Amino acid sequence: MADLFPDRIVELGTGFWGSKVLLSAVELGVFSTLAGGPLDGETLRARLGIHPRSARDFFDALVALGMLGRDRDRYANTPETDLFLDRAKPSYMGGLLEMLNFRLYGFWGSLTEALRTGQPQNESKFGGGNLFDALYSDPARLRLFLQAMTGVSLGAAKAMAQKFPWKQYRTFVDIGAAQGGLPVQVALAHPHLTGGGFDLPVVGPIFEGYVASFGLADRLRFQPGDFFTDPLPGADVLVMGHILHDWDLDEKRMLLRKAHTALDSGGALIVYEAIIDNERRRNAFGLLMSLNMLIETRGGFDYTGTDCAGWMREVGFRETSVVHLVGNDSMVVGIK
Ligand SMILES: C[S@@+](CC[C@H](N)C(=O)[O-])C[C@H]1O[C@@H](n2cnc3c(N)ncnc32)[C@H](O)[C@@H]1O
Repeated sequence: MADLFPDRIVELGTGFWGSKVLLSAVELGVFSTLAGGPLDGETLRARLGIHPRSARDFFDALVALGMLGRDRDRYANTPETDLFLDRAKPSYMGGLLEMLNFRLYGFWGSLTEALRTGQPQNESKFGGGNLFDALYSDPARLRLFLQAMTGVSLGAAKAMAQKFPWKQYRTFVDIGAAQGGLPVQVALAHPHLTGGGFDLPVVGPIFEGYVASFGLADRLRFQPGDFFTDPLPGADVLVMGHILHDWDLDEKRMLLRKAHTALDSGGALIVYEAIIDNERRRNAFGLLMSLNMLIETRGGFDYTGTDCAGWMREVGFRETSVVHLVGNDSMVVGIK
């Protein structure tokens, strides 16, 4: 007993304090404001328009949490927050944090109810339809969600550009491409590839705008469609990122079957997300993502590499492999 301390319990229990400080910092534009260079506390406070009472605690909490640096009274972005959380940079991935702040922070407050009822707790709680019907009926929420997807997938997209043998293939389509974060990273790294993104028609203009901002409009085309009612487009490689986890097991199998049908012999399907470790005890992010699917969807859940490889083989893929990408993300590759 004497050598047991409750500090890890306290740290996890209060974890949302630190999380909300970061989310509010993005909402207030702390990192975009500091992108122009270090500022003293009073100047930063005045630029952000926040009350004097807790400004110093707020800024110093961000220092202690590793999100800002401080030299005497001058605050500065860290290399990471400057690259990823300055809205003016193309590398901005704060769309994810904006969505966490405006949607999921509140919805996760109903986790206990979700666990008791098995029902989603987001916009679809009191209406019919699925996550995407609810999100996409409002243009601001649509854009927020699609930008958030670029944030959540950027690391995996960069890693996949390096770790998959793209030289063996010429064309690829990202199924459920959202803003196009993955196709852009792959196309930037491999000039011989052409391809695009397949997604619901309403996503088209946002995909096209993002792709054009990287000068890739001639190599990456948007293909509108609904993967429940339309066949999937053909290509040497199909990618599904954070798609299968949105749906129940029958829907997952149906999507995998459609991908298998769309590929020629030798073609590849890459499924990537926060694939849970086979023992279901290490990838906490993957397990929490699966609980996030409880909050967000009617039947979605995350899964292990062995689960996914098994479903791929059931629908006819002859070779499967699981490859770690970065952090909590892995890809499961199926070869037809
Ligand atoms: C969770 S997001 C993943 C986005 C992206 N692949 C990533 O990992 O960052 C799911 C994507 O599936 C798309 N989607 C949902 N239902 C769809 C459908 N019925 N047909 C085609 N795309 C759909 C959404 O518009 C969204 O872009």
